[in-house]
Amino acid sequence: MAKQEDQFKKVLSHAKEYGYVFQSSEIYDGLSAVYDYAQNGVELKKNIREYWWKAMVQMHENIVGIDASILMHPTTWKASGHVDAFNDPLIDNKDSKKRYRADVLVEDFREKINEKIQKDITKAKKRFGDAFNEEEFRATNQNVLRRQKQIDEITVELTRVQEESDLAGFKQLIEDLGINCPVSGSKNWTEVKQFNLMFGTQIGASAESSTQVYLRPETAQGIFVNFLNVQKTGRMKIPFGIAQTGKAFRNEIVARQFIFRMREFEQMEMQFFVKPGTQKQWYDSWKETRLKWHLSLGMGAENYRFHDHDKLAHYADAAADIEFNFPFGFKELEGIHSRTDFDLKAHEEYSGKKLQYFDHEENKSYVPYVVETSIGLDRMFLAVFSKALQEEALDNGTSRTVLKLPAVLAPYKAAIFPLVKKDGLPEVAKQIVADLKWDFNVFYDEKDAVGKRYRRQDAAGTPFCITVDHDSLEDQSVTIRHRDTMEQKRVAIADLKDIIKAEVDVKTWLQKMEA
Ligand code: GAP
Repeated sequence: MAKQEDQFKKVLSHAKEYGYVFQSSEIYDGLSAVYDYAQNGVELKKNIREYWWKAMVQMHENIVGIDASILMHPTTWKASGHVDAFNDPLIDNKDSKKRYRADVLVEDFREKINEKIQKDITKAKKRFGDAFNEEEFRATNQNVLRRQKQIDEITVELTRVQEESDLAGFKQLIEDLGINCPVSGSKNWTEVKQFNLMFGTQIGASAESSTQVYLRPETAQGIFVNFLNVQKTGRMKIPFGIAQTGKAFRNEIVARQFIFRMREFEQMEMQFFVKPGTQKQWYDSWKETRLKWHLSLGMGAENYRFHDHDKLAHYADAAADIEFNFPFGFKELEGIHSRTDFDLKAHEEYSGKKLQYFDHEENKSYVPYVVETSIGLDRMFLAVFSKALQEEALDNGTSRTVLKLPAVLAPYKAAIFPLVKKDGLPEVAKQIVADLKWDFNVFYDEKDAVGKRYRRQDAAGTPFCITVDHDSLEDQSVTIRHRDTMEQKRVAIADLKDIIKAEVDVKTWLQKMEA
């Protein structure tokens, strides 16, 4: 656990030091759970967005994109259920005056019991060595059995109070477990209350004439309300999809874990409209396709797992998360939801407009079913960044910090250095920059010794460093160094574009999805 926390701290400080993520309004001590993407971060984020967009829109003839507005007619959120049901259960501690999500307090308590089990297992592993059998230990060790029983009982009761919105039961559970406030240490709790997560604002000049609107809490509804516009103007035939990337806003109460849970974040969502009855087949197929997209980035199959939901939202007939092994453990990265015809039907009802598709093959109209894929861009950024950040031991006994970003996503593809700042070398290096910048984001650096410049680019995540030396003036060749292998090769300046392209081209990476 301590190792995980250390790694997470490193991620935070590296993201700042190397110009990836800054706290919003830092000079005013920041705004909680709101972050700014810096000069390198904005490039990484843009590259992730493009990698998603190409995979979802460009590679599918039957998927098109839109860019709907953040502000929508307020009835949208009544129809979608967000006004009435997009709530978190909150509880205050009367002594510290701190506010918590009731479910998170219980989940954290349960996790602590789980950590004790893990500790017992680690100890036993050490004691028994190769002879240790974890399954048998879990099934027979009395401490583990007692703790696992407690975890299971908490899970059952937590699920019940959540499903039944039993707020008094929620408080009782917190009291029964003896959970105390992490700040004051007291058990002096208020009642549990529901708190709506949408940010509201007003449209209009005066208080009397203004209308209450909301900052969208998901991009999906902009797609639903445009379903028929896109279908008709694009002459789309079912099955087809509409994709969108854009900002979403949630007044998260427990805002923590850096850009994992933010108040302003970006989603990349796709709603796939299908014939009723075929949703299961499409749900399975999108689960598989989305996992392949993740795996194509080469961050290790062992770092992903599916979590199929037992407890389904009122609009869903199946749902699963793709979880990623973040520095704080496996957590949701993307959701795949079979949303039935709930949203389109609700918008039909509230708007009084038909949102139906005329199926020429069937010769009838129906409200399509929807399978949704929804991933947080910031969460994907955190997944990529945290997995890429490595401290590598070197043969000479030293170590290096290297950000092994998938080359296709790296902000800069190459850094170009003159070995020294004289003898015409900067001019050649600058000419290489001028030639390569038409195809790639490249970086020029002439400050400090070359070894130091290599280290800087390793830590910034640049896949290639290119050094111009005195021989370059004679033979028109340069040294190219690979970030991950640190291998150096002499290559012709004329070949640089093809060498870089072979490693950073989106096509090469996306084709891995078909392997
Ligand atoms: N349209 C479906 C929907 O919004 P969700 O599970 O609430 O479903 C989808 O959100 C994805 O959006 C999540 O898997 C996560 O990656 C991202 N996400 C949700 N809330 C977030 C937050 N507060 N900060 C960052 N990302 C968030």
